[in-house]
Formats: sequence, structure tokens, C-alpha cells
Amino acid sequence: MRKAIFPGSFDPLTNGHLDVIQRSSPLFDEIVVAILNNPEKNPMFTVEERVEMIEEILPSVKLDGCTITVESFSGLTAEFAKRSGATAIVRGIRAVSDYEYELRMALMNRKLEPTIETVFLMADEEYSYVSSTLMKQVFLLGGRVNGLIPESVEARMREKQRK
Ligand code: PNS
Repeated sequence: MRKAIFPGSFDPLTNGHLDVIQRSSPLFDEIVVAILNNPEKNPMFTVEERVEMIEEILPSVKLDGCTITVESFSGLTAEFAKRSGATAIVRGIRAVSDYEYELRMALMNRKLEPTIETVFLMADEEYSYVSSTLMKQVFLLGGRVNGLIPESVEARMREKQRK
């Protein structure tokens, strides 16, 4: 039984994240999308909203028999992975600029939990510039983000903006 976690802030989930989930699904029997509960980051969506949004979108993803669940966690990613019985941490890499940060995290996580490997996957190049931060910024300034985030996520962003 091969289990991985896919940790992140997911504030909000983008099509790049979905692409990484889809690409990792043939490699594992179970993947936990692990949302870090970090209120200091002043997120647009609460962790509960993010869990709900991801659970809502998962049925539309082709998963190759892999079970995907969504959980939130606090504290160290490596500890959460260990606690979950996972043997891998999946991270998406876009451009070279992601590499240094991801390398440091992967090595730190390996130091903390030597039995857990980080697996890097490249999302489709059409998402190579897509990040949650950029999507929020463009959306809030009235720009188009269609095709870059799921429609249901965009609808939730519009709802937030109305409040
Ligand atoms: O989506 P993000 O914001 O790039 O995800 C970053 C995340 C949540 C994977 C990272 O910040 C993290 O693992 N935070 C938990 C704290 C931790 O384990 N720190 C040590 C890893 S170097």
C-alpha cells in the first residue's frame, strides 16, 4: 500500500494543483491532500472552506483507482506524513525558481523523517506560472483567471468578494 501526502496551503486550489494530483494518482494507492492550518498567513479561505472546496472538485479528477482524501494539519509536514502512515511527500515544481525552496524543504523533511521521500512532479507547462497567490491577486484586481483555477473555486472567490 503506497501512501503519499500532498501538502500545501491551497488558498485556493489551482488547476496546477489538480494536475499534480492527477499525475501522482497512478504512483500511489492513497494520497492525502494535506492543508496546512496556518492562520498567520491571513488566508482568503478558512481551512474548513478549503477542505470543502477540494472535496467538491475531486470527483471530476481522473484518479486511476487511487483514493484521495483531504485533511488539514498543524505543525510539521514530515510529522504529519509519518503519523498518516505515508512514505512520500508529493510537491509540484514549476520553474527553476521553485527549486531552491523546495530542495531546502525536502532536505529538512528528510532530516526530520529519514524514511519519507519527497517526490517532485512537474505540472503541465500551461500552469507553470500559476500560483494561488497570483490567482488571488489577479482576481481581486478584476483580471481573468478562468482556465487557471476550477470554476467552483472562482465562484467561491466571487462569493467572498461580495461579502
Ligand atoms: O502551498 P505552499 O504554501 O507552498 O506549502 C508550503 C508547505 C505547507 C508545504 C510548507 O510551508 C510546510 O511544510 N509547512 C509546515 C511546517 C514545516 O513542516 N516546516 C518544515 C519544512 S521545511
